[in-house]
Amino acid sequence: MATRQSGMHVVVTGAAGFIGSHTCERLIAAGHRVTGVDAFDGYLYPADIKRATAAELARLPGVRLVEADICDRAAIAGVLDDTVDVVCHLAALAGVRPSLAEPLRYLRTNIEGTGVIVERMRAAGLHRLVFASSSSVYGIVPGDTRQVAAFREDDPCLHPASPYAATKRMNELQLSTYRDLFGLGVYALRFFTVYGPRQRPDMAIARFTRAIARGEPLTLFGDGSSRRDYTFIDDIVSGVVAAIAAVTPGSYEIVNLGGTHTISLAELVELIERTVGKPAVIDRQPSQPGDVPVTYASIDRARHLLGYEPTTRPDAGIARYWAWAAPRLRA
Ligand SMILES: NC(=O)c1ccc[n+]([C@@H]2O[C@H](COP(=O)([O-])OP(=O)(O)OC[C@H]3O[C@@H](n4cnc5c(N)ncnc54)[C@H](O)[C@@H]3O)[C@@H](O)[C@H]2O)c1
Repeated sequence: MATRQSGMHVVVTGAAGFIGSHTCERLIAAGHRVTGVDAFDGYLYPADIKRATAAELARLPGVRLVEADICDRAAIAGVLDDTVDVVCHLAALAGVRPSLAEPLRYLRTNIEGTGVIVERMRAAGLHRLVFASSSSVYGIVPGDTRQVAAFREDDPCLHPASPYAATKRMNELQLSTYRDLFGLGVYALRFFTVYGPRQRPDMAIARFTRAIARGEPLTLFGDGSSRRDYTFIDDIVSGVVAAIAAVTPGSYEIVNLGGTHTISLAELVELIERTVGKPAVIDRQPSQPGDVPVTYASIDRARHLLGYEPTTRPDAGIARYWAWAAPRLRA
């Protein structure tokens, strides 16, 4: 099936967020037209950060930004019309731990909001969707052996470990139903802990970097042995943009997008200490409910379907994050 590499009209939800803003920039650079949607939600981190990002995006030629809540049917109907080629749906409440405090908020945005998007796509005759799922759907299965084996997309994912993870798995099923009933074409991309410039300030790498640079105590949950497959933003965006080009009506693909170099929490802290040039002051706390001991992506499907090949290893990625963060932390 031929894919279009430029000239499409792509709607990106969550456009003012971390992954959304980078996706918009890459799409514009590749010659696409972008309509970005964002509610400037202030739950996980300040809306001002997103408004500043949106102001930067608005300066790019070929970008239109719409302030709208994805649960607002009338607003979404105004955006998703028959001029749209692909919907890249990244808007969500992210974050594992906060979802334990307010699960109903997550249900509304992630389930109802995605429902509004796909209902409108159905009404408008749109059939191509790229969706942001998460490695958190793999969860924790008591007694399983995935401490050493990579997560594969054929895992049944019956044990999401947090309300957030459960909403992402529900989304995958919600989209599968729309494919079966209405021929929606879907790429559900399972992102593995994404980091890089503009990353959410609530995420570990941003928190650790801030604390180490300022000499403040850094709260570490667990004994430091938990491992994550950290994925640099540019690699994730390459996968997202490849999926936007590849998705066809009636297809349904779940695809891991990971970095493939897992590192432990303790190694991550050491790497940030070396990069920043200061020691961490560690405040050790027990593991939190909802945290998983390891994430590690098999990217065979991503390679096969999308030509995905992550190139940024953690040391290079952390250096690039620090180059972006350092002047902002001094300001
Ligand atoms: N960052 C990661 O490591 C990671 C990992 C796995 C999955 N994801 C998923 O990728 C997507 C993007 O994550 P991110 O890290 O860029 O987060 P982000 O919070 O920076 O971006 C999400 C954006 O969605 C917007 N939004 C929230 N609720 C909305 C609503 N009701 N209507 C319209 N917009 C709304 C927010 O204002 C925000 O700008 C999310 O779906 C997230 O669950 C992220």
